[in-house]
Amino acid sequence: MTAPSTARPVGRRATADLLARYDRPGPRYTSYPTAVEFHDGFTAADYDARLAAANALGDAPLSLYVHLPFCEERCLFCGCHVIVTKHKEMAAPYLDLLARETQLLAARLPDRRRVAQLHLGGGTPTYYSPAQLTALLTPLLREFRPIAGAELALEADPRVTTIAHLDALADLGFNRISLGVQDLTPAVQEAVNRVQTLEQTAALIEHARRRGFRGINVDLIYGLPLQTPESFERTVDAIIGLGVDRAAVYSFAFVPWVRGNQKKLEEDQLPDAETKVALFAIARERFLEAGYEPIGMDHFARPDDELARAKREGRLRRNFQGYTVIPGADVIGLGISAIGDVRGAYVQNEKKLSTYEEAVTAGVLPVARGVARSADDELRRTVIHELMCNMRLDTGAIERQYGIPFAPYFADDLAELAEYERTGMVRVSPAAIEVTPLGELFIRNLAMCFDRYQREKHAAQASPVFSRTV
Ligand SMILES: C[S@@+](CC[C@H](N)C(=O)[O-])C[C@H]1O[C@@H](n2cnc3c(N)ncnc32)[C@H](O)[C@@H]1O
Ligand code: SF4
Repeated sequence: MTAPSTARPVGRRATADLLARYDRPGPRYTSYPTAVEFHDGFTAADYDARLAAANALGDAPLSLYVHLPFCEERCLFCGCHVIVTKHKEMAAPYLDLLARETQLLAARLPDRRRVAQLHLGGGTPTYYSPAQLTALLTPLLREFRPIAGAELALEADPRVTTIAHLDALADLGFNRISLGVQDLTPAVQEAVNRVQTLEQTAALIEHARRRGFRGINVDLIYGLPLQTPESFERTVDAIIGLGVDRAAVYSFAFVPWVRGNQKKLEEDQLPDAETKVALFAIARERFLEAGYEPIGMDHFARPDDELARAKREGRLRRNFQGYTVIPGADVIGLGISAIGDVRGAYVQNEKKLSTYEEAVTAGVLPVARGVARSADDELRRTVIHELMCNMRLDTGAIERQYGIPFAPYFADDLAELAEYERTGMVRVSPAAIEVTPLGELFIRNLAMCFDRYQREKHAAQASPVFSRTV
């Protein structure tokens, strides 16, 4: 194995000029088409039909995503769909609704119950007590049975996650954990209303490891108020010091028009685009120097971690939870706002608790919207995900897989990409499209070249829909 490059992805070329031109609103492509294309013409009846088709696949394992939206306090940066309350009793009835939704789904999937991946996301899954989680998950795992080697994962906020939570979840078979840290600098933590210590995270990691959790991940965010390259370097070094298997270094998605809590941030404390580039560059440099490998656009993993292995073997995939090694399984979403991906359609549940409750109590799948992917969507989804996962696209492989001539089919897209080729972000040859280290920073822009909806619908839109790409 060759030593990973420690070169900064951008160096002097990350000029204000490049940023002025390319730092603009764009999707993160955890799906294609992106969620803004979902529509309410996709109904519970449509989902029923997809589930019937999924059931016919019998033994093929599923992925499950369960959304547990409650949090005790709101972090000002948060972009997730959460319900904030300190009144824990208010969150208990939601568990009964999830149990009913599980039954609705199990009834529609009588022959397809094996699970390769279960992900508890939020919100904060460990808002619930260990006993409540056990009561929720025991029947769920009886209906949907994990296969050997299945990934059972949770997102955990170290401020509220206890050793008893880890024990209860390990007893249920959980073996993956992702801890939210974001930044360790006190001033930054105060500015975003999220104060936590390194010791909290360290203690959880140590115990999780003892209980057999692998692929232990920490989330960081760059672009938060008051962050400087020096302060962020200290955060990154402390996380490396914990020996995590993986780290996500997310670009702060600043979308105050959809997340009102972000309006409370002091905008003049947010780093400008050039500082944001420097923040990511320092994180990347430190992780690579420590022997981590870059994964996709915002992850780092130790070479022996399965994400790194999957990347080397071209098996890396992207879904709503980010990067994954689980090959193309159907994803079933449970809970408010959860998104599934079943037999060629994305489907999203009701976002409002009251509407979700109404549907589930009436015995109806709580579908709010979705989209059935066309053949063109499928093809573009593969192209975009290949680029986002592997920073490279084998155009011949696409031609063979989809039976199209690449260059004529993507003539408009390649014309758009030519501009990025001139700036040195991408190399295009008849056999492949290769993203350069500079292009990695602008990968969302490169992916946007292949997004038909972006070109035909959103490019000229006056009001922003997505966060900025850098
Ligand atoms: C849904 S949260 C769940 C984890 C748990 N509630 C916690 O905060 O530790 C998952 C991750 O999303 C990321 N995140 C949340 N809001 C974000 C935003 N506006 N931009 C970028 N990343 C964000 C954070 O890194 C967070 O750890
Ligand atoms: S970042 Fe996590 S803890 Fe904070 S509000 Fe969002 S989901 Fe809740």
